[in-house]
Amino acid sequence: MKILVTGGAGFIGSHLCERLLSLGHKVSAIDNFDPFYPKEVKLRNIEKVKANANFRFFEADIRDAKEISAIFRSSKPEAVIHLAAKAGVRPSLADPAGYQRTNVLGTINMLEASRASNISNFIFGSSSSVYGDNKKVPFSEADRVDGQISPYAQTKRSAELYCKFYARNYGMPITCLRFFTVYGPRQRPDLAIHKFTKNMLLGKPVELFGDVSSSRDYTYVGDIVDGITACLDRKSQFEIFNLGNSSPIALSELVSRIEKATGKKAKIRRLPSQPGDVRITYADISKAKKMLGYSPKFDFDRGLSIFVDWMKNELAKS
Ligand SMILES: NC(=O)c1ccc[n+]([C@@H]2O[C@H](COP(=O)([O-])OP(=O)(O)OC[C@H]3O[C@@H](n4cnc5c(N)ncnc54)[C@H](O)[C@@H]3O)[C@@H](O)[C@H]2O)c1
Repeated sequence: MKILVTGGAGFIGSHLCERLLSLGHKVSAIDNFDPFYPKEVKLRNIEKVKANANFRFFEADIRDAKEISAIFRSSKPEAVIHLAAKAGVRPSLADPAGYQRTNVLGTINMLEASRASNISNFIFGSSSSVYGDNKKVPFSEADRVDGQISPYAQTKRSAELYCKFYARNYGMPITCLRFFTVYGPRQRPDLAIHKFTKNMLLGKPVELFGDVSSSRDYTYVGDIVDGITACLDRKSQFEIFNLGNSSPIALSELVSRIEKATGKKAKIRRLPSQPGDVRITYADISKAKKMLGYSPKFDFDRGLSIFVDWMKNELAKS
């Protein structure tokens, strides 16, 4: 199948492109190298796939509808996996309009181009942040999602609603996937596991924001990619799925697990909680299990040990 992946040079996108190519698909990837973290890191993410004859890369911006239409004409995709976004909860508070332009208008551009090209499958990378500070755990797709507490979460929910509108109004087959804190090799440098592991290995302080009993449902990137690829065979009109590990870990426990995996003692610096942070994320994955056959294979310690090896290797190179 010919598949267009947006955000293809990012953390999850680059793992996805590798998997799709290994499954025999023809992959076109779009990325504008958003400066949220360095272009050189993203170029390294796609170093391996760039050598594959079935891979094409377009340095392009999803905010530019004309450019996106031209890429659809040239790459003729049958399916679209839309992961490009301004990611990160905390920075979204400083730039709500910028997040809106990329995450909502950019998604509309992708939906419009997909409608014009009669795309047979559109998959959107949403986020557990749409649940806001949900008190009921685990989070289920049937829960109310009208209490987002950051502009980032708000844009993801708006984009989901646009997906629903395009599915209902134009009969487009669309799946929204709510990812729960994804980790693994090449993880974004702003995320906790990346920062903590790097700082512990370098003997630098580890900053803990707010209540150390706050928890996240850390999910290994290989499991997320399994969930995304499982949607390629689906033909339903509109569906939302949680993709998580369904096993949340408290912040204090996360530090202990990384200490164990690295063999280093953390130098802790406690800081007040940050606006936009929720108390817990915890995925109910029964729907994805039932309808997608999704079943996470990486328990946290196994995934963490792969990540720590990757980080040690990165630090040895620098
Ligand atoms: N990593 C997580 O824990 C997590 C959790 C929930 C949801 N998500 C979502 O998954 C997707 C991928 O996340 P990630 O962690 O790989 O982030 P990432 O930042 O590594 O990847 C996103 C990519 O999108 C690109 N991009 C940004 N703006 C663009 C634009 N205007 N045009 C074209 N490309 C653009 C960036 O350059 C980047 O390479 C995002 O939509 C994110 O919101 C991630």
